[in-house]
Amino acid sequence: GMHTVGKLMKVFVTRRIPQEGMKILSAAGVCEVSLWDSEEPVPRTELLKGVQGAQGLLCLLSDKIDTEVLDAAGPNLKVISTLSVGFDHLDLDEIKKRGIRVGYTPDVLTDATAELTVALLLSTARRLPEGVEEVKNGGWSSWKPLWLCGYGLSGSTVGIIGLGRIGMAIAKRLMPFGVKRLLYSGRTAKAYAAEVNGEFVPLDTLLSESDFIIVSCSLTPETQGLCDKAFFSKMKNTAVFVNSSRGAVVNQEDLYQALKNGQIAAAGLDVTTPEPLPTNHPLLTLKNCVVLPHIGSATYSTRGIMSDLAARNLLGGLQGTDMPSELKF
Ligand code: NDP
Ligand code: DGY
Repeated sequence: GMHTVGKLMKVFVTRRIPQEGMKILSAAGVCEVSLWDSEEPVPRTELLKGVQGAQGLLCLLSDKIDTEVLDAAGPNLKVISTLSVGFDHLDLDEIKKRGIRVGYTPDVLTDATAELTVALLLSTARRLPEGVEEVKNGGWSSWKPLWLCGYGLSGSTVGIIGLGRIGMAIAKRLMPFGVKRLLYSGRTAKAYAAEVNGEFVPLDTLLSESDFIIVSCSLTPETQGLCDKAFFSKMKNTAVFVNSSRGAVVNQEDLYQALKNGQIAAAGLDVTTPEPLPTNHPLLTLKNCVVLPHIGSATYSTRGIMSDLAARNLLGGLQGTDMPSELKF
C-alpha cells in the first residue's frame, strides 16, 4: 500500500514461483522478499541461511521444514505458506509449539490432480506408453488380436483409498466410464460419497474386490508404507494400482515384486520415493509400471492459482488477518 509504516517484514521464498504470487507480494507493500531465484530446489544450507530472521516463509513440498529450519528462522517467524495441499513435509508439532500459522492450497488443484490421475489410470490400464514405444521402435507389425491388450473401466469395480477432495473428484470422473461399483476406505465414511454411490468398506474388502485401486489419501504415520507385500497379495492378479498421493505410502520394493511376479497387473505412479526416482531404479525396468514425475497439479492455470493463493495465505499470516486457506492443526 501507499503508507508503509515501519520496517518491511522479511519473507523468504524458496523457489521461483509463478508470477501471480510474486505480483501479489510486491503489490501488498508490506514485505521485503528474498527469493531463491531458481527452478531447482534451494540447497539445505541456503534454506537455513535464507530463513534467518524471516517473518514469513513460502515453501514447496521439496523443502523439509523441521526443527533445524525453525531454529534457523528464529522467533520472528509467524507464518509458513506452502505451495501445496500436502503438508507431510512440515513438522506440525514443532510448528504448533512455536505458534506459527500455516497456509496451504486445497481445492484449487483438485480438478487438475483428479484429471491427471484418470489419465494415469487409463495410460496404465491400456498400456499407452508401451504402445507409443512400439510405434517408434518398429515393434508394430500389424493389428493383432491379443497384442497390447489391457483392462477397461466399463463394468469394473473401482476402489479409492482416501475419498477426500481429490479422491472424490477422481470418483466423479470415473463413474461416467461405466464403473459398476465404487468402493472406498479410510478412517470415516463420508456422506458425500452417496453422489457416486460409494460404498465404505474395510480395506481388505476393497483390495480383494477392486479391479482398479487408487491411492489418494494423505501421507501420515498411519498411511506410510500402507501398500506393502500383504496389501498387494490381497489384490486381484488382474488389478491395476494407481498412486497420486505421496510415494511413501507405497513400499516400492514390495510393489516391484508384485509387478514382477504377476501378483498384480500394472501400476501407475505419479509420486515416488525418492523424487526424482533414480533412472536406474528397478521399477523403471518394468513394462507394466508407468511412472510420472509428480505432475498432478501441473496445468498452467492451476499453478498460477496455487501461487496466488500461497501469496495471499502468506500475507494474511504476516498481517495477522484471515488467511484464505489456513491449515487448522
Ligand atoms: P484431503 O484431506 O481432502 O483427503 C485426504 C484423504 O486421506 C481424506 O479423505 C482421509 O480420509 C484420507 N486418509 C487419511 N488417513 C487415512 C488412512 N489412514 N487411511 C485411508 N485414508 C486416509 O486431501 P486432498 O484430497 O486435497 O489431497 C490428498 C493428497 O493428495 C495430499 O495430501 C497430497 O499428498 C496428494 N496430492 C498429490 C498431488 C500430485 O501432484 N500427485 C497433487 C495434490 C495432492 P479420512 O478422513 O477418512 O481419514
Ligand atoms: C500437493 O499440492 O500436495 C501436490 O503434491 C503438488 O501439487
